[in-house]
Amino acid sequence: MKPPIPYGTGDASFRAAGGQAGIFRLVDVFFDRMESDPRFETIWEMHPDDNDESRDKLARFLCGWLGGPKLYTEKYGAIGIPRVHAHLAITTPERDQWLTCMSESVAEQAFDEDFKTYLMEQLFVPAEAVRRRCEAQR
Ligand code: HEM
Repeated sequence: MKPPIPYGTGDASFRAAGGQAGIFRLVDVFFDRMESDPRFETIWEMHPDDNDESRDKLARFLCGWLGGPKLYTEKYGAIGIPRVHAHLAITTPERDQWLTCMSESVAEQAFDEDFKTYLMEQLFVPAEAVRRRCEAQR
């Protein structure tokens, strides 16, 4: 079903992703996949051993980023996505591991197909900004 307003307007994207519950579910699937699939080993190894907080941070960030409640800022304060990754060795292969892991996780969700496409196009933008920032530090 098409949203009454386009994705990216108001909370249309947040609702298309199933709201807070849908986004937290997606992030759990994403982290479980990253942990279990050796194709994502490099980026999995970058995360702290206890990744509960990483899951919470990404899920909360995505809620606000998709036009829903600003849950990340409420709990953790202001964030700049490229800046928080600047200490990591992220080049094109690591960016693509993240995007592939996310894309396969998104594909499993009960989202509209056009929203899945839209979401992955949107996620490319911060993922590429992260890569650029990390490579500039080297
Ligand atoms: C480009 C590929 C990316 C890789 C390899 C990656 C990897 C990581 C890693 C390893 C951490 C944990 C850092 C630490 O605890 O030291 C992290 C944190 C985080 N990432 Fe990414 N990330 C990527 C892209 C993204 C994108 C595109 C977003 C948002 C759309 C995002 C959102 C976050 C958030 C919100 C945190 C928590 C930051 C904090 O509060 O410390 N990441 N990421």
